[in-house]
Amino acid sequence: MLPRPRTVGWGPFSVNIRVFNSEQEAAAACAGHIAQAVRARPSLVLGLPTGRTPLNVYRELVALHARGGLSLAHARTFNLDEFSGVSPEDGGSFRAYMDRHFFGKVDLAPGNIHFLDGMAPDVDAECARYDAALREAGGLDLLLLGIGANGHVAFNEPGDSLQAPCHRVRLSRETRLANAALFGDDPTRVPLEALTLGMASILQARRVVLLAFGASKAGAVAAMVKGPVTPRCPASFLQLHRDVDVWLDPEAARGLA
Ligand code: GLP
Repeated sequence: MLPRPRTVGWGPFSVNIRVFNSEQEAAAACAGHIAQAVRARPSLVLGLPTGRTPLNVYRELVALHARGGLSLAHARTFNLDEFSGVSPEDGGSFRAYMDRHFFGKVDLAPGNIHFLDGMAPDVDAECARYDAALREAGGLDLLLLGIGANGHVAFNEPGDSLQAPCHRVRLSRETRLANAALFGDDPTRVPLEALTLGMASILQARRVVLLAFGASKAGAVAAMVKGPVTPRCPASFLQLHRDVDVWLDPEAARGLA
């Protein structure tokens, strides 16, 4: 039995906040939630993030699959983003991350895995292709999200405005630093640009579960949940979505009290 999460509540917030006792508990609950959704709809369209945050979720899903408790044979996945100029074979690419932590360990059909191609020579065509593929799949049924310490979702970085469609983005210094681990802890090797799903695909997802763990996310979580809806904090646009769960550990929830 999964421990019951403590719900801070709908209360004053327009997103549903749950604070778990630990990151591990939240990840286990999240994997259970995804598994349940896939069992209910085997061809579920999943939106998937990279980063440190979802690692335990992928680990739990892989374990569930290994125990025979979950098949993803008919599920479809769309990853949120990819670095520009980085090939899928490059160990620093998000594609390689997904292969290492998830795709290589479950029974997803290769043809059902969708990824932005960071090496595509025509970026606009690549972004249009990806948006069209997602549209064709019917949009995201369940979107798992992390959040950047600066409030970014996918690679929609804070700025004066946000973009609805899939697009190329210039990464902030902070985001490149946060992604240095993928490039031998050398921030200067992190690409300057990336391709990302835009805010439209994120806000059109039928259901969103955003995970945030650790004190470094407390400020972004508070801004997302309690702050104004502003492109200065892209995640704040989730306040406009009708079905968003924000699952936290106690440290990430610190700014909500
Ligand atoms: C990354 C990704 C996001 C991710 C976020 C947080 O750069 N583009 O999809 O949610 O930043 O990363 P982490 O989970 O490592 O803190």
